[in-house]
Formats: sequence, C-alpha cells, structure tokens
Amino acid sequence: MARLFGLGGRGNGSSDEATKERKSPGERLSEGMNKFQGSQFATSIFRPGSIFRKGYTDSPRNRSYVVMNSVLYHLHPVKVKRHAVKVSYTLCLGGLSFFLFIILTVTGIFLMFFYRPAAANAWGDIKGLQTAVTFGLLVRNMHRWAAHLMVLSVFLHMARVFYHGAYKPPREFNWVIGVILLLLTLLLSFTGYLLPWDQLALWAVTVGTNMMGYTPVFGSQVQFVLIGGATISSATLLRWYVLHVLMFPFVIVIFMAVHFWRVRKDGGISGPL
Ligand code: HEM
Repeated sequence: MARLFGLGGRGNGSSDEATKERKSPGERLSEGMNKFQGSQFATSIFRPGSIFRKGYTDSPRNRSYVVMNSVLYHLHPVKVKRHAVKVSYTLCLGGLSFFLFIILTVTGIFLMFFYRPAAANAWGDIKGLQTAVTFGLLVRNMHRWAAHLMVLSVFLHMARVFYHGAYKPPREFNWVIGVILLLLTLLLSFTGYLLPWDQLALWAVTVGTNMMGYTPVFGSQVQFVLIGGATISSATLLRWYVLHVLMFPFVIVIFMAVHFWRVRKDGGISGPL
C-alpha cells in the first residue's frame, strides 16, 4: 500500500536493490533492447518511422505518421474501412495478382538454376528440367500456370475496378499506374513464352518483332534492337531473357509499390456504389 502512494521506497535503497535483482531475464532483455534503440548507433541506422526507432509516443496520430513514412506500412495500415476488407467487394483480385507475382518470382529463381539462355542449350535445359531435376516438372508447371493466372487475375482486377468506377478522381493516377502494370504483366508473359526456344517461341518472336517493324519512322531500328541483330538468333534469346528475369520484374516491383502506396493515399479502397 505504502508503495502505491510512493512512500515506501524513500530512504530504503535496499528494497530497490532487491527489486532490481529480481528482474526476470525477459525484463533484462527488453531493458537492453531499449538501451540499444536509444543509442546513437541504432538511431543512425534506423530512420524515423521505422518500428525499431524510439521516440514516438504510442498515439493513433503518431501511428498514422509512422505509416505515412513507410511504403511497407501502406500494405498493412493501422486502420482500414470496413467495406475495404469485404472479400465480396474487391474479390481480392489485386492481392491475388500480387500473390501470383510472388509465386512467379520464387519458382522463377528455381528455374534459373537449370536454364541457360543460349540457342544451343535452352530447349535441352527445359527438357532436362522436366525429366532429370527433382521437382523440376512441378516447379516449371507452377511457373507456367501462375503466369497464365496472373494475366487473368490482373485483367479481372481491372474489370472490377472499372465496374466500381474506381478509375474516377481521385484514383485516376492509380488507374494509369494500373495500365502500366497490365502492360508489364503482358510483357513478362510474352518474354517468358520465348524462353523454351521451341517452334511456338520462335514463331511468336518472329511475328511479334515483325509487328514492331511496322512502327512508324523507327520501325527497322526498333526491330533491330529487339532481335539483337538482323535475324533472330541466340542474341535474341539472351536479350529477351534479360528483359524477362531482370528488367521487367524490377520495373514492375517499383510500379507495384507506387500502386499500393497510391491506394492508401487515395483514401483506401473506393466505397460501395
Ligand atoms: C500487377 C498488376 C496489379 C496488381 C498486383 C494490383 C494490385 C492492387 C491491389 C492489391 C489493390 C487493392 C484492392 C484490390 O485488391 O482490388 C489494387 C487497387 C487498385 N488497382 Fe490494381 N493491381 C494491378 C493492376 C491494375 C490494373 C491493370 C489496373 C487498371 C488499369 C489497376 C487499378 C487499380 C485501382 C484504380 C485500384 C483502386 C481500386 C479501388 O479503390 O476500388 N490495377 N490494385
């Protein structure tokens, strides 16, 4: 009781000492963590807004500031509107597209271990992957199916957004980002289609690059750049491989980050009609 009113502790250092000694390992650990978080070393590494950085009192307003400072927190904000978490409104099609992209990245990295982007090796590597590599057939099919499904889900997501009129202000900028995402998804799909270097791939790239050849003014230059020479060859395969595994994934990740950030900045998901 005396402690409750702040009377007991005064002049009684030994009881304080005893309390200190009785600290559990967990308490000592959190004390150590607090010390570390307050140190100059920690604050010089973790920028403001990071969950690792001390200094914000835990209030709804400050929590919102933390979210505003971080793209990652835009994915998982402090508050969302009730209708936004209703699966029947978004059908989770945007989230599904993102999930498929993650699957594509993970399975794609696996495939990269067994595939060489040269005309002499590509088709053989794909065959070897299916017949000689443990789980090779499974992972290749996961990659293929996820690619088909991503094109479908992105398209359906766009239809859902259109149906709800979410392309209108204030979301018109995010609609444009979305169109770029659709384009990048199709480009990823098309460049991946070429990689087995079979008859389908060869004629797809022939038709595709011939079409680019009809671009006004720069047609033949565009075609030359895409083919990597005057005729379709190993250089074409290498070029499209780099676009498929490096360039387009890199660009799409940046646009996705902007897209998710914009969803929050536009006030969350649009409301029901
Ligand atoms: C890689 C492709 C894409 C991904 C990963 C993606 C992801 C998302 C996610 C997770 C959301 C939150 C709501 C939801 O799940 O429906 C969203 C919302 C939105 N997306 Fe996409 N999206 C993609 C492509 C597109 C396309 C092609 C368009 C349109 C051309 C678009 C336009 C929008 C708009 C306007 C919103 C806000 C919707 C609202 O407020 O109701 N997105 N997107």
